[in-house]
Amino acid sequence: MKKLRIGLFGFGVVGTGLYDVIHKTKGIHAKIVKICVKHRDKARPIPMDFFTFDKNDILNDDSLDVVVELIDNADEAFDIVSAAMKKGKAVVSANKRMIAENFHELYELQKKHNAPFLYEASACGSIPIIRNLEEYYDNDLLTSLEGICNGTTNYILTKTSEEKISYADALKGAQQSGFAESDPTLDVKAFDAKFKLTILLTHTFGIFVKHNEIFNFGIQNLSVEDSTFAKEKGVRIKLIAHTFSANGKILAYVMPKFIHKGDMFYDVRNEFNAVQLEASFSDKQFFYGKGAGSHPTASAVLSDLAALMYDYHYEYKKYNQRLESNNKANGTTFTNDQLLNVYLRYSDEKLLKDLQFAEIDQQYFSHNFKYVIGKVSVAKLLEHKLNDRDDVFVVRY
Ligand code: HSE
Repeated sequence: MKKLRIGLFGFGVVGTGLYDVIHKTKGIHAKIVKICVKHRDKARPIPMDFFTFDKNDILNDDSLDVVVELIDNADEAFDIVSAAMKKGKAVVSANKRMIAENFHELYELQKKHNAPFLYEASACGSIPIIRNLEEYYDNDLLTSLEGICNGTTNYILTKTSEEKISYADALKGAQQSGFAESDPTLDVKAFDAKFKLTILLTHTFGIFVKHNEIFNFGIQNLSVEDSTFAKEKGVRIKLIAHTFSANGKILAYVMPKFIHKGDMFYDVRNEFNAVQLEASFSDKQFFYGKGAGSHPTASAVLSDLAALMYDYHYEYKKYNQRLESNNKANGTTFTNDQLLNVYLRYSDEKLLKDLQFAEIDQQYFSHNFKYVIGKVSVAKLLEHKLNDRDDVFVVRY
């Protein structure tokens, strides 16, 4: 068994958590040797000898065989991760944005430099979903993955709907607990959940999709009327990421969904995440665990480090199988050409016209509250940039 010598980038919420869990875990043969951080004047909880401010102190140190990247900035993270892989170092990252933005290139880099790149902590925190998708479901025919993949929004939705805490205070609570991104609009506008879905989609269906082709709509416009509507129907609103296959096509989107009592997602509260898989033979399976926070996220990084001790790497078997079969037959592709049943609160009649609902089942007008329930295509929702508007709220119904 290998002993890992780690160069760590970043010593924030997850970095400090990792330091802690490594020191509390007996079976892990891993040592954090150097830590590269940005801010020279920040007080650190461990001796300054550990720290450097120059990334090359880690990247050029051949005695360090693993780089753990836990920084905030996605572009800087990509530079670090790709430089480390080019040097043949194994890399562990939790940076969902960086991975989603450069996923195919990162896949190619791993192949070219024979450098393992693991990122279990990048999607759904402590839930071991990526390795399960890679290994356990290799031979099963997955048809759908649905998940609560963002702790911050789930925390806000729980606090506002069940504990009558204001949206602003709930967001503050998520920030103070270290769940939220440094730019929390990434959480509330569902970009963070979309980055995670982009990663999970590849490990579920074996295709790489550019994240900006995936529709995301967050909870930033949730109004009292929307919450009252949900309460009257006896449902809860949850932000759900969904990818599924239908007629040889792959679909994916992130948006709020009305969840009925009895549905497994109904009682997923606060920063907890959950993932429900559907597969041909195993039917439905549900994974549940903390999706954000210092120790839960660090536990996934720790698990990747443990896997590296046995030279584990993702094989992307589904992607490679698909490549082979696509050479022989028509390939499966990603599409947004799918009708969804939605509740849409809106103010602008022009938007309603532009969205070209295929079917309207209910329509309600009052002085300051208008909604329709009906079928609209994901492509139209994406085209009309709903997430950029402040006068709409759309929920899968
Ligand atoms: N901001 C993220 C969340 C952190 O709230 O889920 C974990 O990825």
